[in-house]
Formats: sequence, structure tokens, C-alpha cells
Amino acid sequence: MKYQLLSIIFTIIALTKVNSFYFNFPTFQQSDRSTKLLLSKFANIYKDAIQVTPDNRGEIENYSGRAFYIKPYTLWNKNKLSSFNTTFVLNISPQTSPGGEGIAFILASDTSLPENSAGEWLGIVNASTNGTSRAGILAVEFDTRQSSTKDGPHNHVGININSIASIVQASLDNTKVNLSSGIHVTVRIQYFNDVISVFASMGDYLLDSMETILVSPPLNLSSYLRQEVYVGFSASTSNYTELNCVTRWEFNGVDIGSKGKLLWIIWIIIPLVILIGGFVFLFLYCRRKRSDEVQEDAYPRIEDQIQHSSMAPKKYQLKELVKATNGFSHQNKLGQGGFGTVYKGILGNNKEIAVKRVSKDSRQGKQEFIAEVTTIGSLHHKNLVKLIGWCYEKKELLIVYEFMPNGSLDKYLFNQSRELELHYSKVLDWKTRNGVIRDVAQALDYLHDGCEKKVLHRDIKASNIMLDFDYVAKLGDFGLARTIQKRNETHHSTKEIAGTPGYMAPETFLTGRATVETDVYAFGVLVLEVICGKRPGNVYAQDDYKNSIVYWVWELYGNGKIVSVVDKRISGKGDDEDERVKFEEEVEIVLILGLACCHPNPNKRPSMKTVLMVLNGEASPPMVPIERPAFVWPAMPSSFKEGEDSSLINGTLTPFTELSGR
Ligand SMILES: *[C@@H]1O[C@H](CO)[C@@H](O)[C@H](O)[C@H]1NC(C)=O
Ligand SMILES: *[C@@H]1O[C@H](CO)[C@@H](O)[C@H](O)[C@H]1NC(C)=O
Ligand SMILES: *[C@@H]1O[C@H](CO)[C@@H](O)[C@H](O)[C@H]1NC(C)=O
Ligand SMILES: *[C@@H]1O[C@H](CO)[C@@H](O)[C@H](O)[C@H]1NC(C)=O
Ligand SMILES: *[C@@H]1O[C@H](CO)[C@@H](O)[C@H](O)[C@H]1NC(C)=O
Ligand SMILES: *[C@@H]1O[C@H](CO)[C@@H](O)[C@H](O)[C@H]1NC(C)=O
Repeated sequence: MKYQLLSIIFTIIALTKVNSFYFNFPTFQQSDRSTKLLLSKFANIYKDAIQVTPDNRGEIENYSGRAFYIKPYTLWNKNKLSSFNTTFVLNISPQTSPGGEGIAFILASDTSLPENSAGEWLGIVNASTNGTSRAGILAVEFDTRQSSTKDGPHNHVGININSIASIVQASLDNTKVNLSSGIHVTVRIQYFNDVISVFASMGDYLLDSMETILVSPPLNLSSYLRQEVYVGFSASTSNYTELNCVTRWEFNGVDIGSKGKLLWIIWIIIPLVILIGGFVFLFLYCRRKRSDEVQEDAYPRIEDQIQHSSMAPKKYQLKELVKATNGFSHQNKLGQGGFGTVYKGILGNNKEIAVKRVSKDSRQGKQEFIAEVTTIGSLHHKNLVKLIGWCYEKKELLIVYEFMPNGSLDKYLFNQSRELELHYSKVLDWKTRNGVIRDVAQALDYLHDGCEKKVLHRDIKASNIMLDFDYVAKLGDFGLARTIQKRNETHHSTKEIAGTPGYMAPETFLTGRATVETDVYAFGVLVLEVICGKRPGNVYAQDDYKNSIVYWVWELYGNGKIVSVVDKRISGKGDDEDERVKFEEEVEIVLILGLACCHPNPNKRPSMKTVLMVLNGEASPPMVPIERPAFVWPAMPSSFKEGEDSSLINGTLTPFTELSGR
């Protein structure tokens, strides 16, 4: 009901939005003569074309003619000038040598043909209106004959205002376009930002091979022409003759409409919108009263939500961030993801920052924005990307982080395109990779157990792990993070399917719940990735795990060849036997730990505490079966009990209950 009302409102808004003034004549028919066109006395429709000067055999000399589209076009109003594009095909067949005189595309206040406008006047003006505002005409002339010394050469294009003399003209001699060849010539004329541009090509509607013929200086047509003009063509012959035909014509202009129309719209639409708005408000109000549940789409203002959260990070002004990032310039771009784009910025005090600009059509909506700012903003750990501030202005959602000079982890792990390889030519050695794994483990342990609220990250993957100057890893991108109250140990899960395929635990597809254990699973996949230098594989369903890195490593582990999975770039140097043995021992422990985290049964996965102990050499890795156990359902994660709803409690995130279709 609510959606229907909203859609009605949007439809109305769309209807009142700028319309276009459009027509298209792929060909001309006799019936267009009075229904769609206004033709002067001798102009004619013949053989699917407008003959602007007629083809009545023997009587072709000394004619002028005009042809207009039947409806006037609003060229300007109080506030603005319109803009338009028009494309047409001319066919000029000279009957003398040279032919005469030419044809013009015109915008005229008056549709009537001036008397005695044949010959050199092109049907545009006559001897007495020439050069006066009475003419009320703009013409783009396609002139085939030099009729006076002031006129351009035979084959030229010019722009004329109220006069047969051009304010700007261009010879076609150095172009491929020959008006007098008897062949179709396609012309496109644009009026945009006060400038008229003319393009042309030989042939029928060859839009891609058009040459730019002429670009006018800025022309504020409101100074010369009436508000409403008729668009069309004029042409003339003298004792030099030709057939002046138009065979196609398309026109597309912005319809800025007339005042009367606008008033009409205002008087009808605005009260209607207010009325419907009132209904919607009433409806929402009643519904809200009826249930205490907070509605997921009745967002309070973003600011309130963020500022009510206990540790709100700094709010920046849009203009500060625009300045810092050089206006979100391309040069400052650090990366792009499904959520939007990340830019490098420099604040006034020379502090380097990274600014995530959430793109308007990204999957990261306001909910994720708020989740990210409020969760990560209140967390402080050396292995979490620090969130410095945020901004929500003019519909821009921006998040400011500390700048990570070495970018994201994925760029170092996988085979990249050549360009990227140059950028990230550094191969991370085993020591660094091991450090990265430990850093991420510490971050996760802190989220799961170390901070006031339990936080699920829900989107652990290589591209969300950032490296600082010393290659210390920090976990970032908390767009999907959810807080879970710690007091109540049973509320360890949240109900939305989210995350990245390949990193999602098998039970996710059945329970649809994120838990501490699903974070551990994703961490396990990450460990394998970091050591193997391979992507996790495309796994969209629980029965298709055969392609995944987990399956692959497990199999080699079963064959006693687990060390063979190690990225060749770090396993190669085996000169020193002792060192090689030590390396293989270390790497094997971490690989087995990774597999343990990827146990299909969530109960069997270690906690992040245990993971850290193993990484620090304080415990041996958990036992991992030689064969990857089958995933057995139901497999309850120890932290999740059926019957207790996992929707979040209190705090900042309560409005978001269930998301679907992620
Ligand atoms: C056309 O005009 C020219 C000069 O104005 C004149 O010499 C010629 O006879 C005219 N032709 C016709 C057919 O009226
Ligand atoms: C005219 O064409 C240009 C370029 O193709 C386009 O940017 C502009 O929006 C068009 N204007 C209208 C009114 O169609
Ligand atoms: C020019 O055209 C106008 C309007 O059609 C007409 O009144 C005027 O007499 C014409 N002038 C000449 C010299 O023919
Ligand atoms: C244009 O074409 C005509 C007919 O083919 C030819 O006589 C004339 O010389 C050409 N003009 C130019 C400028 O090439
Ligand atoms: C065009 O000129 C008119 C006055 O002649 C002026 O009011 C209007 O602002 C100008 N428009 C533009 C876009 O320059
Ligand atoms: C047209 O008339 C002019 C003189 O009025 C003459 O010089 C020219 O040769 C004529 N052209 C043709 C094609 O008859």
C-alpha cells in the first residue's frame, strides 16, 4: 500500500519532469503535408522527400520555399535557453552548373515565406527585411553558389541571423562533403550551451563518419528570436537551379515548456503531492503506533543514528573532503569496489586519508553506511583500519579512514594484469604473510571477544585487508558488520545472508545466519589463500565445494603433500636445508590451522583465541581429519540455539532486522 502510494508520487514527478520535444520523419508522406508539416505554396512532398523548391518541370527558376514542423518549439523562457539536436538528410541535385542557390535549416518566428525571397535570398529574408529584426530568423545555410562577392565560395555552410550575410561560415572544399554532388548528405546540428555546432557526412544517415563543419561563437538566441519558434527548412533557386530536397528529419530538443503549462502543472500537481504525502504520513504514523517494532525503512535521519551512538567519529563537511581529494579526481583514486570508490586525500594539516565514496547505486546503502560508521567507529585496535570520520551531505555518503600506503592484500596475492603487476611487483615473503595472518587473527579475536560488544565482521576476504607502510595488516570494510550484545551469550548470530561467495561457510546456505563460526570459516579460507596465492574459487552453493581452495588443499593434505600447495613465489628458495625444513614445518602448521577453521562442521572449528595460541606457538594445531568430512545437517554452531531469534538487541542497529537478496 505504502509502496503503491510512493510509486504514484514518483510517476507524477516523472511526468512533470522535463519533457522532450521530439519528432522523427524517417521518410515523408503526402499525408504529412497538412497534419505534421507546414509547407509554403510551391513546396511539395514527392518521392518520399520534401521538395522545398518545386520540381514542376520547366518551372524551376526563381522560386523560394519553406517547410516547417507543424508545432512551435520553445527556444527559451525567463530562466533558460533550451538545447536541441537535429539530424536530417539533404539531397541537392544541380540542374545548372553550378546549381543555385541553396537550402537552409531555419528557426523562424513566422512561418510565412517573405515575398521576393528567391534567388540570392534563400527564402530566408528579402531585400527589405534583410538585416532587420523583422526577419526573426536563424538559418544554417548550405549554399551551393556564390551569389555575390560577400557570399562564401560555391560549396559552403554559414550561420545567419536575420540576414543573408553569415556571422560565421566555413568552406566545405577541404572536407569530404560536397553539397552539389547529387548524393545524400547527412547533417547534424546541435544547439547546446549557447553554441551551434554543425556536423556532416556524405551518404544517408552515416552518423559515425561525421565531420565537424562549423562551431559558432556563443549565441544567446533569446536576444534575436521569439520565445517560440518554428523549425524547418528554406531554399531558393534563381536562373541557376537545383532540386532542394530533405529526405529524412529527426529533431530532439529539451522542452522547457511555456509559462502557462508550468502554472498548470504547479496548480494540479503540488496539491496532489501534498495530499498523497499526507496520506502516506498518516499511514506510516498509524502503522508505527500499532507496533512497537521499528520499521526498517522508516529511517530516522542518518545523523541522529550516528550521533546517538556512543562514540561517534568526527563529522566532516563535504567541502573539506572535496578539497582533500582534489574534487574526487581520477588521479586520487585508490580503488573501486561494488560499494563505490576509494580516494586518497590530504587534509589541511597534511594528514593523509582515504575517503570511501559510497556510490549511489551500490549495494552499500544507508544501513551499511550507518553500520560501518557506528561499529568500526567505536572500535580501537591496531589491526583494524581506523575510521576517522564521516560525512553525509547532498546525498553523498562518505567515510574517512586512515590512509593505508600499501593498499589491499588481494593485489599481492593473485596473478594480476600486467599493469597491476608493475604496481605491486613486491612479492610478500613468508614472514610477511605469516604476520598478515596473525594480524587478522588478532583483529578478529578482538571483534569476537575483546571489545565491549561482540562484532561479526561477516565479510572477511583478501580485498578487505589493508596493509600499512610496514605491511602490518588491518581489517577494514565493516559495511556488513553487525554488533551482538555480549551479555547474552546465546545471541551470537545474525540472520542475514551476506558475505562473499567462496568465503561463506557451508551452513550459511542452510541457516542463512552469520555466526562467530562463519567468520572463523572465512578466516580459514583467507589463510589458505595467503599461503597458496590462489583465489578461493567460485562457490555459490554448498554442494559445489569441489572447485574451492578448501577442497583442493584438503585433498593434498590427505595425500601427505600439503606443502606442495604453497605459493611457488615463496617456496622456491630451498638452498639452506635447515631453513627449508623450518619453513616447511611452520607453513604446515598454519595450513592445517587454516583447514581446521574450514571444517564443514561449525562446532569443530577453533575459536579465534585458539587460532592465536597456535599462531603464537603456544598450542599445537587442532586435529584435522585426513579426509574432508562431509557436511552434515543439522550442524548447530555451538553459539546458536534454535528458537531464540537472533535479531539484534538495543543499540544502534536495531532498525535493521532482515535483509534479503544480498
Ligand atoms: C528569373 O530571374 C532572372 C533575373 O531576375 C530572369 O532573368 C529570368 O528570366 C527569371 N526566370 C524566370 C523563369 O522567371
Ligand atoms: C544532443 O546530443 C548530445 C551529444 O550526442 C547530447 O549530449 C545531448 O544530450 C543531446 N541533447 C538533446 C536535447 O537531445
Ligand atoms: C519582404 O517581405 C515582406 C513580408 O513578406 C513584405 O511585406 C515586403 O513587401 C517584402 N519586400 C520586398 C522588397 O519584396
Ligand atoms: C561536387 O560534385 C559535383 C558533381 O559530382 C562536381 O561537379 C563538383 O566539382 C564537386 N565539387 C567539389 C568541390 O568537389
Ligand atoms: C540571454 O540573454 C538574456 C537577455 O538578452 C538574458 O536575460 C539571459 O540571462 C541570457 N541567457 C544566457 C544563458 O546567457
Ligand atoms: C543567369 O543570369 C545571369 C545574368 O542575370 C547570367 O550572367 C548567367 O549566365 C545566367 N545563368 C544561367 C545558368 O543561365
